[in-house]
Amino acid sequence: MPATVAAVANLKGGVGKSTTTLMLADGLAYYYGADVLVVDLDPQANSSQMLLTDRGLQLAFEQGKGVHHLLEQFAANQPPNIANLILPNAVTLEELRRAEERDERQGWISILPSHTQLRLTEMELEEKIYTKGMAPSRLASYLADHIAKALEPLTNLYDVILIDTPPYLSPVSRAALSISDQFITPTLADSVSIWGTKQFSDWITANVTPHLASRNFVVITRFKNTRYARNAEAELKEIYLKDRTFGPTIPESVQALSAMDRPDLDSYDSIRGKYGRLRGEVKRLSESFAEFLAKRSNVPPPKRVRE
Ligand SMILES: Nc1ncnc2c1ncn2[C@@H]1O[C@H](COP(=O)(O)OP(=O)(O)OP(=O)(O)O)[C@@H](O)[C@H]1O
Ligand SMILES: [Mg+2]
Repeated sequence: MPATVAAVANLKGGVGKSTTTLMLADGLAYYYGADVLVVDLDPQANSSQMLLTDRGLQLAFEQGKGVHHLLEQFAANQPPNIANLILPNAVTLEELRRAEERDERQGWISILPSHTQLRLTEMELEEKIYTKGMAPSRLASYLADHIAKALEPLTNLYDVILIDTPPYLSPVSRAALSISDQFITPTLADSVSIWGTKQFSDWITANVTPHLASRNFVVITRFKNTRYARNAEAELKEIYLKDRTFGPTIPESVQALSAMDRPDLDSYDSIRGKYGRLRGEVKRLSESFAEFLAKRSNVPPPKRVRE
């Protein structure tokens, strides 16, 4: 089956978009043996840094990898050529690396990394469009065509393409949302986040991607188990976003911080070592997302390859 494309998006910052992207990438690769491509469209490059470390990110930039080159190809009216921009090895889990060494690869993670350069390239494009008197939405729609064409040859190589987006609607993130098969919305359980998440989610489905209305997977993250947060969680599920599919609620935990803090580029950790007590959440997250996908396409959920 061709890869499914899922954008992870919320206009609100710091709600766990990048962390959820990587938990899902690890979970789908580890428990389901999925081949996952992480596409980082945020110039903050957090998910790239979490997978590759600062040094790895710098090396990737020096080697000419990165999503900003895709935009440069667009600006130069060149057809997209994405294969050389991807780092095919962004696995941090020991079990996946060992299986690969034994030629028994089941589950893998690759990344199209980001860099701060992405924002500069985007601004140049915006300026170009502005001087031509063209609406920004036109830029997003041209970019959507370009990105869709870029991803087309990849859809047979991967099972899932996860797109991490910035906490604002950049032309490129808007383009990515419009070509996604579904979108994932991490949110906090507090009143400001509820309001913002509802507005954003409704706005996306009304203005950018009407086809995504029923394809929204919501994950409450960084949950502090207080009465206030429990009420907010219930409001989200039962009132504001009751027509959406909810994944497991992820608790606030220092393990989420350490899991995303890779000491160096040569370090690998077991799923237990990396996620500790959050391992159950990573498993439930990937399970519920796999079920969500299966329901959406009327196929049975994929088989688990590890417990
Ligand atoms: N479950 C959790 N428990 C504790 N801290 C968490 C949890 N999930 C994420 N965090 C931390 O919260 C901060 C924000 O998370 P993250 O970077 O994933 O959010 P984001 O939505 O991608 O942010 P941005 O909008 O800047 O892209 C990070 O420091 C991250 O390590
Ligand atoms: Mg982020």
